Amino acid sequence: MTLLHTESSLYQSNDATAKLAAVDPSRAGQAATDFVEISDVTLSYGGDEGVTAVEDLTMSVRKGEFAAVVGPSGCGKSTLMKLTTGLVIPQKGRIAVDGKPVTGPLDIVGMAFQNPSLLPWRRTLDNIMLPLEIVSPHAQRLRKHKAEYVARAEAMLDLVGLGGFGANYPWQLSGGMQQRANLCRALIHEPGLLMLDEPFGALDAFTREELWGVIRDLHQRKKFTVVLVTHDLREAVYLADRVFVMSARPGRVVLEREIGFERPRPIDLTYTGEFNDVVHELREKIAEARADTPPIG
Ligand SMILES: Nc1ncnc2c1ncn2[C@@H]1O[C@H](COP(=O)(O)OP(=O)(O)OP(=O)(O)O)[C@@H](O)[C@H]1O
Ligand SMILES: [Mg+2]
Repeated sequence: MTLLHTESSLYQSNDATAKLAAVDPSRAGQAATDFVEISDVTLSYGGDEGVTAVEDLTMSVRKGEFAAVVGPSGCGKSTLMKLTTGLVIPQKGRIAVDGKPVTGPLDIVGMAFQNPSLLPWRRTLDNIMLPLEIVSPHAQRLRKHKAEYVARAEAMLDLVGLGGFGANYPWQLSGGMQQRANLCRALIHEPGLLMLDEPFGALDAFTREELWGVIRDLHQRKKFTVVLVTHDLREAVYLADRVFVMSARPGRVVLEREIGFERPRPIDLTYTGEFNDVVHELREKIAEARADTPPIG
């Protein structure tokens, strides 16, 4: 694993949804092949007497889909990521990825978090290649096929606009560049599932928009399945095929919203009225979910 690092959902089929869905013909007759399946999952940290982070959580993500998860702070979004990747095992319910029950850490996953967590003593290229030293079958092939893998890592660096920076140490890169390298590391072993937990949260608005373009293009090319946790509704609506809104803790999905804007999506889309209508709709739902937040303690 690259670990370096609905209650039935209330799908709102209002006019705006129908209009948005209609602009993406590729969605018509889309096969319901679920890559991630989470059914009635409950997880309490510290056992039954502890904190219940998620309760009766049900959601599924189709193969190749870009899903975004939004919800109030502390509602269990990171817990959902840990459950899906097998880092924590639920007390109740079922989780399957690619048709197989999740019983421990998965190796078909790439992960990236808010903090890039690159190893400071390794050059950028060597940081990116780290998963190849761990994940099968690459780990067994790496020594013999080193040149081929280095070329792959360099191609990834080019793809995210970091060509020529492979020899730099992470501390010689800006925050945005480190996050680009972090994405390369999450994707170098070509995982079927990419889990992103607020990867752009610490970046300024311009760099964040640039990286939206990077992840949008990577997804378009490589067709992996993505689950993105974010606090930024514009980010969720811009990048995702579907946005899941979680309730306050204990988290569960209270709304599932298809985002039908045609792809590839230009960044200018985010300044249109149609786009803002969707953002507003989701914003209201989160405000409702926050209002239900129980006091801490
Ligand atoms: N390892 C842990 N041990 C005990 N409690 C935990 C642990 N991890 C998370 N929690 C608790 O579970 C709840 C959900 O946490 P989680 O990190 O999943 O929330 P989140 O939605 O990711 O929050 P944020 O938006 O702030 O990142 C919180 O109340 C948190 O205190
Ligand atoms: Mg979190």
